[in-house]
Amino acid sequence: NSNVKSIQEEIHRLKKEKNAIILGHFYQRPEIQEVADFVGDSFGLSQQAQQTDADVIVFCGVHFMAESAKILSPDKKVILPEPEAGCPMADMADVKQLKEMKKQHPDAAVVAYVNTTAAVKAHADVCCTSANVLKVVQSLPQEKIIYLPDRNMADYLAKKTDKTIIRWPGYCYTHNWLTADDVKKAKEEHPDAKIVVHPECSDEVVSMADKVTGTSGIIKYAGESDAKTFIVGTEMGLNAALKKEHPNKSFVFPSKKLICAQMKANTIEKVYESLKTLSPEVFVSEEIRISAIKALDKMLQVK
Ligand code: 13P
Ligand code: SF4
Repeated sequence: NSNVKSIQEEIHRLKKEKNAIILGHFYQRPEIQEVADFVGDSFGLSQQAQQTDADVIVFCGVHFMAESAKILSPDKKVILPEPEAGCPMADMADVKQLKEMKKQHPDAAVVAYVNTTAAVKAHADVCCTSANVLKVVQSLPQEKIIYLPDRNMADYLAKKTDKTIIRWPGYCYTHNWLTADDVKKAKEEHPDAKIVVHPECSDEVVSMADKVTGTSGIIKYAGESDAKTFIVGTEMGLNAALKKEHPNKSFVFPSKKLICAQMKANTIEKVYESLKTLSPEVFVSEEIRISAIKALDKMLQVK
């Protein structure tokens, strides 16, 4: 509507005035994706945060993503329009428990999914995202891997590698909500459709899929596959990018529950306010940053 349009115009004006860029995750509201300079997955967003020469990064995503941007670009102002937008799964791992686990498995490498706090990353050997998890794990000399915090991704890893995967009891409530029954029903309605799901989905959903991959991988798969219809197991926000990239294909989201409330907590009004006031800012202590950047850098170097 016209109100949203005028806010978007103001955002474009402010971006130039403040030499700011807007980075947005695929799960953001469509009107936010429209004003973003880059829309992508966690991996692409980290790369952009590292490479930009803007003075200000307005991060439209959740807290751990903005924190990673700050770790990689400490001299930039990093703004999170809704400061309470955290990833509940990232909050399921804490340093105290991780130290305990490391003591129990001194010969294991610690692989932290980017969906972790900066403090946890500071105690990890390397980070990973859904886009590079297998490559990262294979690149390590250790045979034993502590993988945190997503137990569903750990299950997936255990099937895909010969390494011993030590699990952590975290999960993403959005992806975990998707049931095998939901997918079965969608497949009955669209028998020719291919099933493509995020590795954060449960083991039984992952077992039904033709392809298991992160958000950017889902977009790529829809382009490479001959199928016309796809049953998509991830947050519904991805629909905007899927339709934009592949206008002649159709995408079915098999459950109404595939919504991340934290991702949706950013609104276009909050993006505008945050650009105007250059707040709320995200900070990471230098002590944590120096350790956490090693794990992030190591991930960004894995080819
Ligand atoms: P991607 O890195 O695949 O975009 O996933 C981010 C996320 O939060 C998944 O729930
Ligand atoms: Fe966290 Fe899940 Fe939301 Fe991604 S979709 S930010 S993993 S709660």
